[in-house]
Amino acid sequence: MRTDQPPAIRLSDYRPPAFLVDRVHLSFRLDPKATRVTARLAMRPNPAAEPGEDLWLDGRELTLIAARIDGADVTPQIEPEGLRLPAAALPAGAFEWVCETEIDPQGNRALEGLYTSARGDNLMYCTQCEAQGFRKITYFPDRPDVMAVYTVRIEGDAPVLLSNGNPVASGPGWAEWHDPWPKPSYLFALVAGDLVSHDDSFTTASGRDVALKIYVRPGDEDKAEYAMDALKRSMAWDERVYGREYDLDLFMIVAVEDFNAGAMENKGLNIFNAKYVLASPETATDRDYELIEGIIAHEYFHNWTGNRITCRDWFQLCLKEGLTVFRDQQFSADERGDAVTRIDNVLALRARQFREDAGPLAHPVRPEEYIEINNFYTATVYEKGAEVIRMLRALVGAEGYRAALDLYFDRHDGQACTIEDWLTVFEDATGRDLRQFARWYSQAGTPLVTVAEDWADGVFTLRLRQQTPPTPGQADKAPQVIPLAVGLLGADGAEVVQTQVLEMTETEQSFHFKGLAARPVPSVNRGFSAPVILEQRIDDARRAFLLAHDTDPFNRWEAARDYMRAMIGRMVADPNLAPDPALIAALVAVLEDQGLDPAFQALCVGPPSVEDVFQALSRDGARPDPGAIHAATVRLQRALAAAIPDLAGRVAALDTPGPYTPEAGAAGRRALRGRLMALLTWTEPAAETARAAFDAADNMTETMQALGLLIRAGQAGAALSAFYDRWRADPNVLDKWFSAQATATPPGQAVEAVAALTGHADFDWRVPNRYRALIGAFAAGNMAGFHRADGAGYALVTDWLIRLDPVNPQTTARLAGVFETWRQFDEDRQALMLTQLQRLADLPDLSKNTGEIVARMLEAQG
Ligand code: TRP
Ligand code: ZN
Repeated sequence: MRTDQPPAIRLSDYRPPAFLVDRVHLSFRLDPKATRVTARLAMRPNPAAEPGEDLWLDGRELTLIAARIDGADVTPQIEPEGLRLPAAALPAGAFEWVCETEIDPQGNRALEGLYTSARGDNLMYCTQCEAQGFRKITYFPDRPDVMAVYTVRIEGDAPVLLSNGNPVASGPGWAEWHDPWPKPSYLFALVAGDLVSHDDSFTTASGRDVALKIYVRPGDEDKAEYAMDALKRSMAWDERVYGREYDLDLFMIVAVEDFNAGAMENKGLNIFNAKYVLASPETATDRDYELIEGIIAHEYFHNWTGNRITCRDWFQLCLKEGLTVFRDQQFSADERGDAVTRIDNVLALRARQFREDAGPLAHPVRPEEYIEINNFYTATVYEKGAEVIRMLRALVGAEGYRAALDLYFDRHDGQACTIEDWLTVFEDATGRDLRQFARWYSQAGTPLVTVAEDWADGVFTLRLRQQTPPTPGQADKAPQVIPLAVGLLGADGAEVVQTQVLEMTETEQSFHFKGLAARPVPSVNRGFSAPVILEQRIDDARRAFLLAHDTDPFNRWEAARDYMRAMIGRMVADPNLAPDPALIAALVAVLEDQGLDPAFQALCVGPPSVEDVFQALSRDGARPDPGAIHAATVRLQRALAAAIPDLAGRVAALDTPGPYTPEAGAAGRRALRGRLMALLTWTEPAAETARAAFDAADNMTETMQALGLLIRAGQAGAALSAFYDRWRADPNVLDKWFSAQATATPPGQAVEAVAALTGHADFDWRVPNRYRALIGAFAAGNMAGFHRADGAGYALVTDWLIRLDPVNPQTTARLAGVFETWRQFDEDRQALMLTQLQRLADLPDLSKNTGEIVARMLEAQG
């Protein structure tokens, strides 16, 4: 195994920058293989730092052509990670640093820094600088606490030449941009290419006109309308709910096919993975529309939470990401409905963050050390970071929260801040002591809250106990502040005590409810007010009662989940056990309730994922076989399908008349229809129903529903060919063709199916979207297939991690996390996974990114 792990960076080692940069002038002469970059920086010693330090500028994979200080040539000491000039070689005060570098955008397949993205022979240039990509463009103090005003000149053949801020001047083959807002280097962006824009405008609350432009490839111009609509709604929402207006005359979004993440909030020039911009009814599913809306909002909201107020250092990443995720979740809830949005948020939280928190990659919302910062753009920083803010809001109330946010924007505008700054704002605005609450930022692991009940003399008592399990580097945990929303129901289902927030602060704590006529049924953690695992010793009768009566829609859904999860667990243990008729009846009752939102009904009757059941069973100490969970889930679905009166008629009745619209109501009906069709095709020969639905579909949502069912049934040959022939030129749609096969192929054949697809002419594995659509979708979305007992799934995925790592370490490291659960499996699977992890660890040139992830996973071996 490699022993030369690069050193860890520590939060406790933070020191202010030795030099500040006031102004940056960048000049680019674009060329695919040899782009020249001239950087002119107005620098001065930082009065807040120790005097007399050397000048250190970060830089990677740069060819230095020339360097000058105040016009005189200098010869810095070049190192792999940057350059140094001894303090003695520097002027006493302010100075001008000029340097010319040469870079190779086309050779940059890691997709950080300046790179190219090709579609046919149409080449575009774009940048990705977060977190540390700017240092691959020029030498610079590439850290977020160095904020500067940028002016940029671009020379190149492309008809469109873009950078941050406002256009200043342009002519044939050149353009100049100026961004008046000081920003850290990670928010710098440049785009050049043959692009067309979809244009609109927005008038801010104070009456300023903002031009809005979404740049796409020629041919995609009719697919930007929904993203534009989502942008305008986001701008209006941020004014209405947070009092935040946009601050430039121009806001641009660019769609690019080659991208490591979802999107990037570069000042005034957001760059998006094309998958989260382009949509038409024929090419995008309801889920795609929902994601586009959410991500457009997220990046736009970063303009205040991230850009105007940024992070002091990368340990503070959740300062911008947790808050911005929370804001985009609030927006989506307002646009699409609270209950359904919250259920979606929690599904994602459990599938990714609870999983992460339970394994070797667990880390606090604010980590204290890292080797590679790109490995910390995690579900914990993002999703748990958002949950922490949701709890804070629950504790101080909506008004306290708004007052605190007003103070935050007021006090810290233009600054690079810390979590301490953030919590202090809440303490100052609300008077609340948040020292204990701050543990949510420093302690990793998902708290387990055990709930017991007592009833005596008209007093109902909830006895709560909290315990957070050990995580890497943190053996013992102190009690946290847990806001638990609780309501009490009477025997007839009526609410006898309305929702109130119980604040748990001790390890063990009891809460009493007096003056009740009869023993109530508690509904605990309503709306998922705290990101904890509840352990309630409740029986099926209680689950059925809550599923039928809970007035909190989230907990009603939770009761259905919990009931199904428990049932599937028992069916795994006993392969002859039939599901309890009471469960089936309770689910049918949800479908018969005309008053319920179809989207909510679809979520209630949908079975928990194999992963979800697996996590629950392994918490109880079992080492379940994913294949057995998959099989039990199928049995449950068959039993449910057989019990739904006139299932085929119900499916037909849910047909949406008229042309497709992406709005939530119509999407909810399609979700329910798809769910019921999935059930129907378990009871009858699947092929006819699914094939008829495939042929009749006039939108991508219904096409994908039907295609998935055909693949599941092993009857998809003709449909897959037809789909391929129609969509082979559209990369976003072709990705769906790959991922549907990776996820819906039955577990027993999935490895072979995926292996065959890796040989397909369109498997452009260097493009992250395509790689994720096949390899990522298989490993994360076909759990029983990936964990096949012979280890063939592990070997296949590892082969491809090994292939991608030298090309794109960021994406490889992220996907390597599919092995993070290895310790929860039986001994045979553990051994098979360890063999593959060891294969990775033994690679002599494994990247720092993947090396860190693999080493952390292997440390859990002891
Ligand atoms: N800041 C981006 C967001 O959350 C995330 C991001 C974009 C990113 N590109 C990246 C993170 C590259 C790591 C690497 O909105
Ligand atoms: Zn973000």
